[in-house]
Amino acid sequence: MPKVKIQYNISLKPYNTFGIDATANEFVEVTTIEELLLLVNTFNFSARKILVIGGGSNLLLTKDFDGMVIKNSIQGLELLNEDDESVWVKAMAGEKWHSFVMYCIEHGYGGVENLSLIPGCVGAAPMQNIGAYGVEIKDVFSSLEAVEIETGNIVLFTNSDCKFGYRESVFKNELKGKYIIVSVVFRLSKHPKFNVTYGAIQQTLDKNEIKDITVKAISDAVIEIRTSKLPNPKILGNAGSFFKNPEISTLEFEELKVKFPNIVGYPTSNGNTKLAAGWLIEQCGWKGKQVGKTGSHKDQSLVLVNYGGAKGNEIWQLAMDIQQSVKDKFGVTITPEVNIV
Ligand code: EPU
Repeated sequence: MPKVKIQYNISLKPYNTFGIDATANEFVEVTTIEELLLLVNTFNFSARKILVIGGGSNLLLTKDFDGMVIKNSIQGLELLNEDDESVWVKAMAGEKWHSFVMYCIEHGYGGVENLSLIPGCVGAAPMQNIGAYGVEIKDVFSSLEAVEIETGNIVLFTNSDCKFGYRESVFKNELKGKYIIVSVVFRLSKHPKFNVTYGAIQQTLDKNEIKDITVKAISDAVIEIRTSKLPNPKILGNAGSFFKNPEISTLEFEELKVKFPNIVGYPTSNGNTKLAAGWLIEQCGWKGKQVGKTGSHKDQSLVLVNYGGAKGNEIWQLAMDIQQSVKDKFGVTITPEVNIV
């Protein structure tokens, strides 16, 4: 018989990579789908706030949470199907994203090597269509199953159902708070085509004199790049990029370029330009700056950090100050990528 144990007034510090010491009124960890269904069928979630967390790596807790935190720890990896070209792997939502990537690397399955070392769990990955170094999860996503909180039904979502965009999906928008993702199926390649469009990958391969490109070689290069630039949340609390890279029209970009000739922007597939928010923030003088117990990281200004003991609202205040200064200097609004609670 499945059982769930509700705990009260629990510190969420171990459950968010910012390391914010906020308290949850109620806290429950589920390790199987049956436990999750029991929970959903037992409690009245229309009268309760809920927050589902996996690795807590994209979360800023600005205050105590006066509802139920559900920690999704449903584990498992399963090879579902294969043909000459592809394999379909089902990963349960509570699997660590990087463990899933390592499973793929060990088996030589291609598609997620560029997404190595991203913190967090599998279940959170489609929520915000995680991406790095020229690849997004939507490129390898086949389908997912999620529990509808209101009914307890398990619903299948295809790639198009998820409405993936840049760090966006239907689960961050119209279906926000309505479903709990339980598993994701990925289609991976047995004959991978490598994506080395992001310059630093090729540079790292060259530097290490790697001639034979494999999923493992790309993964190793990505791990090296990430470790050199992004702070390890176990050592310095952070949630990766705090803001999204803003998209503006190419006309606006050309105008900004007149005033700021070194501005960094990349064309998007819809004819706009995506600006490097890290560059904008650095130009406003924030890079490496410490404000109380918070700051913008010295190697990547887009990453806000907790130097230890910071409150969530202090990080939020820093984020708002950074946002305002970017707006004042460039007339561009940068919006958070991180889920603010
Ligand atoms: N830059 C600066 N100053 C900085 C940071 C960046 O000038 O302090 C410039 C760099 O010189 C570079 C450009 O900005 O020309 C882009 O920087 P980078 O390659 O580090 O990537 P990013 O745009 O800052 C995005 C993702 C990261 C992902 C990397 C690599 C977003 C919000 N972030 O960062 O994702 O790892 O590209 O693909 O899209 C995350 O989402 O948490 C995350 C870490």
